[in-house]
Amino acid sequence: MSGRVLSVASECVPLVKTGGLADVVGALPAALAPLGWDMRVLIPAYRALRPLIEGWSEVWWEEDLWGGEGRVYLGEIAGLQILALDAPHLYDRAGGPYAGAGGDWPDNPQRFAALSWIAARFAREGVEGWLPDIVHAHDWQAGLAPAYMAYHGGGTAGSVMTVHNIAFQGWAPATLLTDLRLPGSAFNSHALEYYGGISALKAGLVTADRITTVSPTYAAELMRPEFGMGLQGVIVERASVVEGILNGVDTAVWSPEAEPAHAYSAKAPAGKLAARAALCAEFGVDVPGPLAIVVSRLTDQKGIDLLPEALPEFIAAGGGVIVLGTGHAELEGAMQSLAHRFPGRVAVKIGYDEGLSHRLFQGGDAVLVPSRFEPCGLTQMYGLRYGTIPVVAAVGGLADTVINASPAALARGAATGVTFAPTDALALSQALRRLVALHADRKTWAKLVKNAMTQPVGWETSAQAYAALYEGLTA
Ligand code: ADP
Ligand code: GLC
Repeated sequence: MSGRVLSVASECVPLVKTGGLADVVGALPAALAPLGWDMRVLIPAYRALRPLIEGWSEVWWEEDLWGGEGRVYLGEIAGLQILALDAPHLYDRAGGPYAGAGGDWPDNPQRFAALSWIAARFAREGVEGWLPDIVHAHDWQAGLAPAYMAYHGGGTAGSVMTVHNIAFQGWAPATLLTDLRLPGSAFNSHALEYYGGISALKAGLVTADRITTVSPTYAAELMRPEFGMGLQGVIVERASVVEGILNGVDTAVWSPEAEPAHAYSAKAPAGKLAARAALCAEFGVDVPGPLAIVVSRLTDQKGIDLLPEALPEFIAAGGGVIVLGTGHAELEGAMQSLAHRFPGRVAVKIGYDEGLSHRLFQGGDAVLVPSRFEPCGLTQMYGLRYGTIPVVAAVGGLADTVINASPAALARGAATGVTFAPTDALALSQALRRLVALHADRKTWAKLVKNAMTQPVGWETSAQAYAALYEGLTA
């Protein structure tokens, strides 16, 4: 089967990224193309994109897009067909996609309503003869796309709402209902009303034909109050159309064989030692035991606050840690004080650095992901690929991708990492103790690394699941 999919999102690699959402949106088109699905990605033309789209062709003009005009430009980048929505009054700003120096943009509800509005128009009318069979909306920023299709007409297109993170719900006050072009009849708790206001994510969840999330475990977790964050009832109500499809990673980009320096593979792992030495030299650390890395947003979700309590014992046992991340100022400070407290064992780089993240996965022995919740998570999969053993909280996609090195799993030759529960400092300390013991046993460690590196973490299986989902909607 074949067809056309309009993917709607606020981020897409290589154009704009704040997290894994961008990786996934950027990877799906190439993963689905061989299966016959022609996917185009609709994203806002933020300031940084405007020079790029200058040479692209204008394919749409919208007169009234919340206070100004909008134009859509079609172009190709890195093999992706991008539809960039240029509405300078909404997107041409200094700062990130969601926030400027003063915090979140106050008109975020309208900014992403505009994106969703255009998606629904394309669903109805097509764009220059390209009429999508499916509109695939990602996270709350695209949540109103299925809603506009339901309330204003979506032609024959089916709709899919994918939850990458239910913590972000796109809440807006009820007074915006009319401004957001939503019918009064939808303002009830069975539709998009949420805590007295409007939730763009809930709107998508109640109106989309299908709901997916990015791992099977998270799909089940979302139905429970601890993880559903208020929307568990909605997910339960729609359980018959909810599916968890695990993310893959782009194995061309995340490939230890293809790194410019110190390349290595499962069969020829020697380069990893050289990469480790280079990394230690770069950061001025000397670590006799396992060298752990963290590459993460520094937020509550990621459990970064557990490190100050859990690490001292690990460091005393010979371990070391290099942290790369940005996020909450308090957590950034906590990481920096760890580095001061343990010079030569802990190093911290506050910032976002793609190149450095590759060097960390190459040279690290283990990657720590102590998340409180994790819809899928990508860094544990980069860890598998690079033989950088994942030490992860057993939640969401982390639980679905890492096989704990229990005696039984080790004996079977199936283990790929260390998992722990619950997400607290004690369980993390115990996991790190197990890591130290595994690392000290050279034969076991070599086997673990080999197992990790030979796990399939690409998109093949998941792309087939998405294709089957689309097929079910167009049949
Ligand atoms: P989330 O989307 O919740 O942040 P994921 O694990 O799905 O978590 O994706 C995070 C992505 O962002 C990964 O590609 C990771 O390598 C990258 N990343 C996070 N922080 C940094 C950083 N400081 N520098 C470079 N890459 C980072
Ligand atoms: C979100 C989640 C993360 C997931 C990513 C891509 O950012 O926090 O777990 O991997 O989306 O789906």
